[in-house]
Amino acid sequence: MKTSRRNFICSVSAAGALAALPASAFAQGIASKTLDILVLGGTGFIGPHEINYARARGHNVTMFNRGKTAPGMFPNVEALIGDRDDQLDSLKGRDWDAVIDNSGFYPRHARLSAELLHGHVDQYMFVSSISAYGEDMTVDDNEFSAAYGVMDDPTDESEPPYGPTYGPRKALCEQEVTKVFGDKAIHIRPGIITGTGDPTERLRHWLKRIKAGNEILVPGQEDLPVQYIDAADMTGWMVRMLEDSGSGPYNAVGAEAPYRARPLLEGIRDATGSKSKLTWIDWEWIRKEASDIPGYAPWYGQGPIPFMQVNNDRALATGLTFRSIEETAKDMIANLKEGDVPEGRGDGFDLETEEKLLKKWHAEKG
Ligand SMILES: NC(=O)c1ccc[n+]([C@@H]2O[C@H](COP(=O)([O-])OP(=O)(O)OC[C@H]3O[C@@H](n4cnc5c(N)ncnc54)[C@H](OP(=O)(O)O)[C@@H]3O)[C@@H](O)[C@H]2O)c1
Repeated sequence: MKTSRRNFICSVSAAGALAALPASAFAQGIASKTLDILVLGGTGFIGPHEINYARARGHNVTMFNRGKTAPGMFPNVEALIGDRDDQLDSLKGRDWDAVIDNSGFYPRHARLSAELLHGHVDQYMFVSSISAYGEDMTVDDNEFSAAYGVMDDPTDESEPPYGPTYGPRKALCEQEVTKVFGDKAIHIRPGIITGTGDPTERLRHWLKRIKAGNEILVPGQEDLPVQYIDAADMTGWMVRMLEDSGSGPYNAVGAEAPYRARPLLEGIRDATGSKSKLTWIDWEWIRKEASDIPGYAPWYGQGPIPFMQVNNDRALATGLTFRSIEETAKDMIANLKEGDVPEGRGDGFDLETEEKLLKKWHAEKG
């Protein structure tokens, strides 16, 4: 998958990144200097990982959010209340070493916070997405060669945060932050984040089904690539990068090489001692049988961009490391709640539909 062209481009960017980051970037444990870090957000999925890791490294953390999501989650962390939508007063008159912006979805919001914080934080780390890339991105692209996606009206805020123009809005947010912070802007572009606290079914669906231990319908092809990153790995690397002054965009996708769907699921099954049988069924066949196609098999949804084969050389060169997907799976299974098993309801199939389809498939194919 790695072409010589891509390797050439990335060796150039990786060398630059390595020069920017001393060896301490790779150290675990307590940071060599204490930072005051502002987290815009903090109480959703990745925010708690960032906050726990930063505090464990010895940093001071302040959160800024509306106080709606999981209030009281961090009784010992300073919480500033406000809204990205022009209610930023609680941030005024304060200084931090760095900000991690988890909650930027609209370019106007990114501009407001970047302008207000300029001169009051040294580094602005914006959590973007690989969705920021345009549709013509290829597997040969990296952070610098792939173009941003665009939207008709960049000022349109009519969609919800994760609505259809999510990607182009992330691209515009990045540009707003860079306009203000220049090379002190860091853009983290994750693909599929999972791990403890993952609110989606994208890995959890499979864990629930594997835990239940019976036959599982797996849609798609066995050798399609899939990239998951554990939130703990990603956020630890983000905090270490603030300690050592990263700069520019980083694709935050795992692992070293994309997993393939079959070894991924079989590895999890075997590591957890499950007796599940995985039955792979082609999407085209499923489409004919069921109208409600589930979106929880990310290896199928190659999407408009090859978003399961995104280049991560630059992040690897700046100290991003990965635990195994089996370890992530075991942590998540340990945290599954009673009601999560064994129903295995994903975004699409319920168990009843799944059983019906399996029966029909076996009757047809033997
Ligand atoms: N999950 C993935 O696979 C994935 C992939 C690519 C990129 N990302 C990006 O990663 C980030 C992940 O977010 P997260 O939910 O995990 O982060 P988080 O920091 O854990 O949670 C989101 C926070 O934002 C706050 N917030 C929401 N709207 C706000 C507003 N209008 N004003 C002020 N605060 C607001 C929420 O608190 P209140 O509700 O109390 O305000 C909450 O604390 C997002 O930017 C997402 O686009 C995620």
